[in-house]
Amino acid sequence: MKFLVTGGAGFIGSAVVRYLLGETPHAVVNVDVLTYAGNLASLDQVANDSRYAFEHVDICDADALVRVFAEHQPDAVMHLAAESHVDRSIHGPAAFLQTNLIGTGVLLEAARQYWETLPVERQVAFRFHHVSTDEVYGDLEGPDGLFTEQTPYAPSSPYSASKAGSDHLVRAWQRTFGLPTLITNCSNNYGPYHFPEKLIPLIILNARAGKPLPVYGDGQQVRDWLYVEDHARALVRVLEAGRVGETYNIGGHNEYTNLAVVEAICELLEELAPQHPKGVAHYRDLITFVKDRPGHDLRYAIDAGKIERELGWHPEETFESGLRKTVQWYLDNDAWVEGVTSGAYREWTDQQYGA
Ligand code: NAD
Ligand code: TYD
Repeated sequence: MKFLVTGGAGFIGSAVVRYLLGETPHAVVNVDVLTYAGNLASLDQVANDSRYAFEHVDICDADALVRVFAEHQPDAVMHLAAESHVDRSIHGPAAFLQTNLIGTGVLLEAARQYWETLPVERQVAFRFHHVSTDEVYGDLEGPDGLFTEQTPYAPSSPYSASKAGSDHLVRAWQRTFGLPTLITNCSNNYGPYHFPEKLIPLIILNARAGKPLPVYGDGQQVRDWLYVEDHARALVRVLEAGRVGETYNIGGHNEYTNLAVVEAICELLEELAPQHPKGVAHYRDLITFVKDRPGHDLRYAIDAGKIERELGWHPEETFESGLRKTVQWYLDNDAWVEGVTSGAYREWTDQQYGA
């Protein structure tokens, strides 16, 4: 099969592309406009594969998408392109409305027009897989309860609201036009090639640089962490075997408070990078409580029972094994880190945390 992957230069998209080309016989067309979060260096290991093509295209550009579909004749779309950072959505929501809502709508239309021209057997086999987040469900209060596929939507941030809207668009294109869609809603991902404005890579890099480790509020908010390569496998499994029109929640059963995550990273660094930055006795001494995020969701936790029962998917990494791999990866990959921590990155961290 040929997969048209949007956002394939991003954190999760690049893991999907590396997995498809490394572990399956499928071909990939990567459609990515390369925002600050898109980085072709994350695809160095597959860039020369004859089954790989890159299209530097914005998903809001209808004409360009029509050309891409006609030229590459994909069998499936995996839609990951998005603005994805909650804090950025608070500082500037417009880009989130544009890419996550308008872009998804434009992509759905281009996919539908192309799909309608296919012969019947290719139409039946075609899939449009929309990759979404558990944040569309809002947050859970208290330590009990899990998000299921039946949990009502109640997004809190401009990011999660725009993703919720995009999920609704996908369902509408399935119901109204019969486009064979799938939706997955996943919990927080972590792992290699993660842009270092998100919690885990930010903490690793700040700690190595001897900078403060910013914990919002009291650090007692809970996230459910999934190693990115487990997510990539789940996505391909859903695309190949999921039931059309269905939603699948994906999660790793790894609930931790933010403070516990930051402390776990500090402990791993004590072991893996025992040479502290100048003036730092213990990495954990750098932990700094800062102003809370407005509208901060308290707890996310996924019931992944449906994908486990119906499709036999299970995460391979525990949080302990995945976090260890992640910390080691950042210690070993200075060149990638230097490539992404450009002027634009420094402008963001100055704006968010103060220079
Ligand atoms: P990311 O920000 O790392 O990557 C997004 C990619 O999309 C980048 O390569 C960027 O250049 C590209 N892009 C952005 N706007 C575009 C546009 N208009 N046209 C074409 N390309 C564009 O995001 P990620 O963390 O890899 O997330 C991928 C998807 O998974 C998103 O849809 C996100 O909502 C969803 N998701 C993320 C997480 C997480 O923890 N990161 C969890 C669940 C779901
Ligand atoms: P983030 O990685 O931005 O993911 P999301 O908001 O999508 O869950 O943040 C994960 C959690 O970590 C979230 O509760 C906010 C918190 N956080 C901090 O405490 N400090 C930080 O500097 C960042 C970026 C996040």
